[in-house]
Amino acid sequence: MSDEVVDALPNILITGTPGVGKSYLCQKLQEQLKFKWIDCSKIAKENDFIEEYDEEYECPILDEDKLMDYMEPLMAKGGNIVEYHGCDFFPERWFSAVFVVTCPNNTVLYDRLKDRNYNDKKLKSNIECEIFGTILEEAKDSYKPDIVFELKGETKQDAEQSLKTIKNWYKAWKRK
Ligand SMILES: Nc1ncnc2c1ncn2[C@@H]1O[C@H](COP(=O)(O)OP(=O)(O)OP(=O)(O)O)[C@@H](O)[C@H]1O
Ligand SMILES: [Mg+2]
Repeated sequence: MSDEVVDALPNILITGTPGVGKSYLCQKLQEQLKFKWIDCSKIAKENDFIEEYDEEYECPILDEDKLMDYMEPLMAKGGNIVEYHGCDFFPERWFSAVFVVTCPNNTVLYDRLKDRNYNDKKLKSNIECEIFGTILEEAKDSYKPDIVFELKGETKQDAEQSLKTIKNWYKAWKRK
């Protein structure tokens, strides 16, 4: 057996209002960094980590404890990109960096959400979430400010820039 010590890879959180472009970015990141992409909404749906269904906002309510139990062994291994439109319930120790994707142009976000046939109530609450910077604030309240970074997700150029930012962060992390 080799006695070489291999440092665990970091875990990265990609968060932000629904529709800002988290998956768009994660898809490319998983290819380029060779990390495992954990899309929490998708995993919750596939494994039925759902507490109940919110009829008013037409969305499932996550069973956070079940999701955490599922994720714990994966997170211990490292090398994950975790995607979710919230960030305050994950253990702080899981993440070496938290990237908050934003879409300051409300019209762009509105059109993206409208394309998903969100109802008016859901549309309004998501747009307000973005206008008030709710997720960025949640991230800053939940993690050390020096590991929280804001990325723009409006245009393809923004996404390219964001990819560079994350890859540069990873390069610096490896040098530590
Ligand atoms: N940087 C970008 N430039 C152009 N289009 C984008 C960009 N990012 C995302 N989009 C488009 O916007 C839509 C929503 O993006 P995406 O699914 O990545 O959002 P999300 O943040 O993952 O949403 P959710 O919280 O529901 O998972 C998609 O159609 C995607 O192709
Ligand atoms: Mg997504």
